[in-house]
Amino acid sequence: MAKEKTLFFCKDCGYETTKWQGQCPGCHAWNTMVEAPAVKKGKNGSSVRRTEMSAKPAKINEIETQGESRQETGMPELDRVLGGGIVPGSLILVGGDPGIGKSTLLLQMCRLLAEKKNRVLYISGEESARQIKLRAERIGTFSDELMLFSETCMSAVVQAVEEVSPKVVIIDSIQTMFEETVDAAPGSVSQVREVTGVLLRLAKSKNITVFIVGHVTKEGNVAGPRMLEHMVDTVLYFEGDKTAMYRMLRGVKNRFGSTNEVGVFEMQNQGLIEVPNPSEYMMQGRLENEAGSVVVCTMEGTRPFLIEVQALVCQTSFPMPRRTAVGTDYNRVNLLMAVLEKRLGVRMADCDAYVNVAGGMKVTEPALDLALVAALLSSHHGRSLDSDVILFGEVGLVGEVRAVSQAERRIAEAIKTGYTTCILPDSNCRSIQKAGNLDVSGIRLIGVKHIRELLEYI
Ligand code: TYD
Ligand code: MG
Repeated sequence: MAKEKTLFFCKDCGYETTKWQGQCPGCHAWNTMVEAPAVKKGKNGSSVRRTEMSAKPAKINEIETQGESRQETGMPELDRVLGGGIVPGSLILVGGDPGIGKSTLLLQMCRLLAEKKNRVLYISGEESARQIKLRAERIGTFSDELMLFSETCMSAVVQAVEEVSPKVVIIDSIQTMFEETVDAAPGSVSQVREVTGVLLRLAKSKNITVFIVGHVTKEGNVAGPRMLEHMVDTVLYFEGDKTAMYRMLRGVKNRFGSTNEVGVFEMQNQGLIEVPNPSEYMMQGRLENEAGSVVVCTMEGTRPFLIEVQALVCQTSFPMPRRTAVGTDYNRVNLLMAVLEKRLGVRMADCDAYVNVAGGMKVTEPALDLALVAALLSSHHGRSLDSDVILFGEVGLVGEVRAVSQAERRIAEAIKTGYTTCILPDSNCRSIQKAGNLDVSGIRLIGVKHIRELLEYI
C-alpha cells in the first residue's frame, strides 16, 4: 500500500510544509512543527470549502445588523465577560485546567438558557449522557429544552444539530471530536483544525452560538494549534487555584466586547455560585492590626479588587537569606527589597522574606509595589498599619512613587468597602483632586512622592 501522504504543520501559526524543519519559516518559532496526515481532497480536488458568510460584496452602510441580537445568559458574571451576552452565530472557546469547572459552568448556563425557552444541545465527547445527568442533579432541575448527546464523530454531530435545530450548541471538548475525512488521532493539529472549521461553518450558516471547551497544556495555552484561538470569535479562560475556592473567568479575545473583564465564581456543592462583590469575599478572615499585613486595590482589567498582601521578614539563619513570593513576581520582591536597603537604609540583606498575596490571586501589576514595600517595612519594624488604610502605587528604583492607571476606580472601590484612608502616588492624588469627578469626602487621601514618606505611617 502506498504510504499515506503527510504534511508538517506549525502548532503556533499553522504554516504547512512537506519537510520537517526545526524552525517554522512562517513565524520563526522553534520546535513547533508537528507531523500530520494531509487532508483528503474533496470531490472537486480541493480540501477547502466555501463558507457562506455573505453572498457578495456590499456597501457597509447597506448591511443590516440585527437589532438587539445579544441574548443574556442569566449569569451576570458570565455575561460581563462575554460583553453583555451571547451573539448568535459566534464561536466561543472556553479553556482551562482539567477539573476547574468548565463543564459545570456551561451546563449551568445551558440550564438558564433552556429555562428561557431556548433550545440547547450539549454534546459531550468525554462523559456519557448519564454522567452529565448525575452532575446536573447536583445543580438543579432542568427544562426539556436542553438535549444531551454523547458523541465524538463530527458527521453525527452535524446531523444532530440539523435535527434538533438548537440556538446554542456546546462541544465538550474539541480534543475528543474527530472528522472522518481526516486520518489523524482526535486532538491532533489537523483534526482540531478541521473540526473547528466544520463548527465555524455550522455556526455562521445556521446562526447558532457554539461554545467549544478546550483543554489547556502545561504552558497554559489551549492544547492543539494556536490557530484555534484565531478561528473563534471569543476566547475565555477559566482559571483559579484548585485549593482556593474562587474561580476566575477571563476574556482573552472578544470580537464582540472588551477583554478587560473578569467574572468571579465560587465552586460549591450545588455547582458554581457567582461572586458579585469579590473585594468583600477576598477580605474574609483578615486579622486587623497585624504587622506585615496591608490591603491593596489592584485592577483586573477594569474591575477593582481589594486584596491583602502579607510579608514576613525575619533574621536569617542560613548563609544565604531565603526569599519566597506567592501570588506575585519573585524578582520584583527582591528588587523592592534592594530599593528599601539602598534608599531607606533598612538592613534587609541578612533577612529572610516571605511574601504572600492572600486568597490565591496572582497579581503582577506595578500598583502592587507600594503595598509590598509597606508590608515588608511593617513586618521588619513590627509595627502595623491602621486597619482602615488601603494603598496602591508603583515604586521606582530611586524609591519614587509613580502614578498608576485607574486610580479613581480603585478609590471608589475602597470607599464602597468602607476604607477611610488611602495612601497613593502624589500625582494621582493631585489629579483626582483637580478633576473633582469623584466624591472623596468619605476618605482621606494621602499622596506620597517617595517611599520615605511611607515610614511615617508605619
Ligand atoms: P468539571 O466541570 O467537570 O471540570 P472540567 O470540565 O473543567 O474538567 O468540574 C470538576 C470539579 O468540580 C470536580 O472536581 C467536582 C467539582 N464540583 C463541585 O465541587 N461541585 C459541583 O456541584 C460540581 C458539579 C462539581
Ligand atoms: Mg469537563
